[in-house]
Amino acid sequence: MRTRIKEIIERGAETDNCSFSGWVRSVRASKGVCFIVLNDGSTVDGIQVVVEPGLANFSEICRVGTGTALTVEGKLVPSPASGQQFELTACSVVIIGNSDATYPLQKKRHSFEYLRTIGHLRPRTNTFGAVFRLRSRLAQAVHRFFAENNFLYVHTPIITASDCEGAGELFRVSTLDVADPPTLDGYPDFSQDFFGQKTGLTVSGQLEGELFALAFGDIYTFGPTFRAENSNTARHASEFWMIEPEMAFSTLADDAELAEKFVKYLCRFALDECADDMKFFDTHIENGLIERVATVASADFVRMDYSEAIERLQRSDAAFAYPVEWGLDLQTEHERYITEQIIGGPAFIINYPKDIKAFYMRQNDDGRTVAAMDLLVPKVGEIIGGSQREERLDRLELRMAELGIAREPLWWYLDSRRWGSCPHAGFGLGFERLVMYLSGMDNIRDVIPFPRTPRHCEF
Ligand code: 4AD
Ligand code: MG
Repeated sequence: MRTRIKEIIERGAETDNCSFSGWVRSVRASKGVCFIVLNDGSTVDGIQVVVEPGLANFSEICRVGTGTALTVEGKLVPSPASGQQFELTACSVVIIGNSDATYPLQKKRHSFEYLRTIGHLRPRTNTFGAVFRLRSRLAQAVHRFFAENNFLYVHTPIITASDCEGAGELFRVSTLDVADPPTLDGYPDFSQDFFGQKTGLTVSGQLEGELFALAFGDIYTFGPTFRAENSNTARHASEFWMIEPEMAFSTLADDAELAEKFVKYLCRFALDECADDMKFFDTHIENGLIERVATVASADFVRMDYSEAIERLQRSDAAFAYPVEWGLDLQTEHERYITEQIIGGPAFIINYPKDIKAFYMRQNDDGRTVAAMDLLVPKVGEIIGGSQREERLDRLELRMAELGIAREPLWWYLDSRRWGSCPHAGFGLGFERLVMYLSGMDNIRDVIPFPRTPRHCEF
């Protein structure tokens, strides 16, 4: 049975018989001795393996290439070298899978752009090892948080007939022959499609989540989300993961309270449970990261009205590409200015103009805003979008009519307002944006294992 390098380092004791399997990161050979750094993915630090000429295959071992898969056995002893507590004196080294000079990861440092072109190999680098360990642990922390708070985990569908956000960004799901679809009045006839209607990949699990909240009280979804949004930015992906809690008998204030508690919990979790990887990010990706995250973990998040945010932006002397006026959908430049310059920390912007928000948000009494909230954080901008939902059937129907949203396909959603409707609220946290925020990585393509963005769907 192999031991994970992380487990042995954590145990921190000399061990007579140890067996590790992993991939060679570097080899330094001389006549008298050969040093191999082996990494098995369990931790950012590899283990140094010391191979002495006494081993029958010593000369073969001295020639192994970076990337070779090896199993080593030996004795774990305190290391005289600096930067590591233990090293392994090998009594056996077995080559499991060879690698040679054509292996692309020979250099110590490659640009993230280059590494995206070898997405099949980049998980074997230090940075991506740290990113994907953090991502995995955070996903577990999300479930832990909601379990501790008695939320029900619901698997909302991935194939859906409704465009929750109403932005027309659904990827079509169809088995019709694109070259020769059946037609009706000159248009493709989706009644003959697989589901007998037009369907797509979900842009949000919220609408179905609401139905469960109105039965179980507090629920959350955590799943993949798809948006055919043609924006080529460092913060948008066509496939991303979203966490969407929904709470019955709750208002916008409760919603913001939950979001604040959740984000702080995840910050604390990363610092406490992913300390080695966070240290790596602090040293190699963003100096001061740990302090930044620690500050957020104990900060009070500000709540500011959209109207006030607009006034503050107008009063600033910053030059924005998009002119600021009431009614504007805040762009990343504005969001970052608000959280970085005006507030200097995380901030909920609340009560947005109804015309820039989705149909389901609760209409405020002023007639022009809705009970929406976005959580803005330094570096990333919007990380959470949420709202209190319009629970009054007549108001909801009116708003849908104003926006030209057909009632018929959403009959079940309207039904939820017919029987036992109640104030409820929820939000969506973009999981990749969270990982970016906690790792200091600048591009969403570098925090998702195999990114899908416009014109890119490789690996
Ligand atoms: O603000 P959004 O569009 O809100 C919703 O989808 C609501 N249905 C959520 C809810 O109330 N249950 O998206 C929520 C979050 C954003 O704040 C952002 O973090 C992330 O999802 N997000 C994206 N992340 C990566 N790539 C994209 N294209 C994203 N679009 C949204
Ligand atoms: Mg949003």
